[in-house]
Amino acid sequence: MSESKTVTSQNLLEIRNLSIGIREGDKIYRAVDDIGYEVAEGEILGVVGESGCGKTVTNLAIMGLLPDVLFVSGGQILFEGKDLAKMSERERAAMNGRDISMIYQEPLTSLNPLVKIGRQVGEPLRIHHKEIPEEEITKRVAESLREVGLPDPEVTMEKYPHQLSGGQRQRVMIAMATICRPKLMIADEPTTALDVTVQAQVLRLLKHISRKHKMSIIFISHDLAVINQICDRVIIMYAGKIAESAPAHVIMRHPAHEYTKGLLRSIPRADSKGESLPAIPGHVPSTEEYRDPCPFAPRCPIAQDICRQQAPDAVQIAKDHVAYCHFLRAE
Ligand SMILES: Nc1ncnc2c1ncn2[C@@H]1O[C@H](COP(=O)(O)OP(=O)(O)OP(=O)(O)O)[C@@H](O)[C@H]1O
Ligand SMILES: [Mg+2]
Repeated sequence: MSESKTVTSQNLLEIRNLSIGIREGDKIYRAVDDIGYEVAEGEILGVVGESGCGKTVTNLAIMGLLPDVLFVSGGQILFEGKDLAKMSERERAAMNGRDISMIYQEPLTSLNPLVKIGRQVGEPLRIHHKEIPEEEITKRVAESLREVGLPDPEVTMEKYPHQLSGGQRQRVMIAMATICRPKLMIADEPTTALDVTVQAQVLRLLKHISRKHKMSIIFISHDLAVINQICDRVIIMYAGKIAESAPAHVIMRHPAHEYTKGLLRSIPRADSKGESLPAIPGHVPSTEEYRDPCPFAPRCPIAQDICRQQAPDAVQIAKDHVAYCHFLRAE
């Protein structure tokens, strides 16, 4: 069982023992296996892990947007104390875009190509605040575009998505996702498609908006270097489970789990010109594959028989630093 910390009033979101199943014919596989974590008010939480480890499906569950074949098979998703997994579709629809919003990797797929930017950015306000008159919506759209650093909001409002650059489109998405002042934003690889300079600008912008409006962010990435630029705390996921969680600077300097250490070794450094980086040998098991009780065991340099027989418990290494490994000791 994953450990959940005690409930505090500052936790905006608490995920407890969450499992997500995949239906395939008459078989059921686990995409996410008994995970638990919290997001504090105003906190930026990073979620890192290789492709397929369950980052996106966890967040789709938070948004109530799991595709038909996927379903919450156990646990709770508490947002301000209420279980999102138990809410009706109607209740969820009333929250999405207002209390919780999401931005994706490629904004072109989420923006409507046929609708002008101004109209699209104002849409969440039209849906959730029917009382606000159209002139006020136009004013707020302009403010929102200005806040995300788009010059000449009046000109931008008249454009279509394809007339903007990738970085500008991501800023538009952020304007749209924050116009209702949500308490939580889920950002799923929002800068992966951008070049490095634009990526750094968008990261700074997200951090600025989070601090200014005390908006919490769940920031998903497979890139620890990006996570380190923006996040307060980090969760490392592996094959549908949590491997380690700690403040970002602790993960970067004192990783405990062998998987986290492997991820850190594969980050390019400024002084490692042209050298090939050590990749973690092996692959993430697919959802159908057999897994040892510790799913990282087949790739782990320090694995012993116990890792193939028994799932590791959470080890509290320090305050706010937890890892799941048989060979760790609490401080
Ligand atoms: N629509 C779907 N139908 C069936 N299986 C799915 C579906 N979406 C995700 N999965 C499976 O659930 C598991 C978790 O996928 P998820 O998309 O959450 O990974 P991820 O960590 O976001 O990876 P990436 O870094 O590639 O985005 C994977 O094994 C994936 O194949
Ligand atoms: Mg994903």
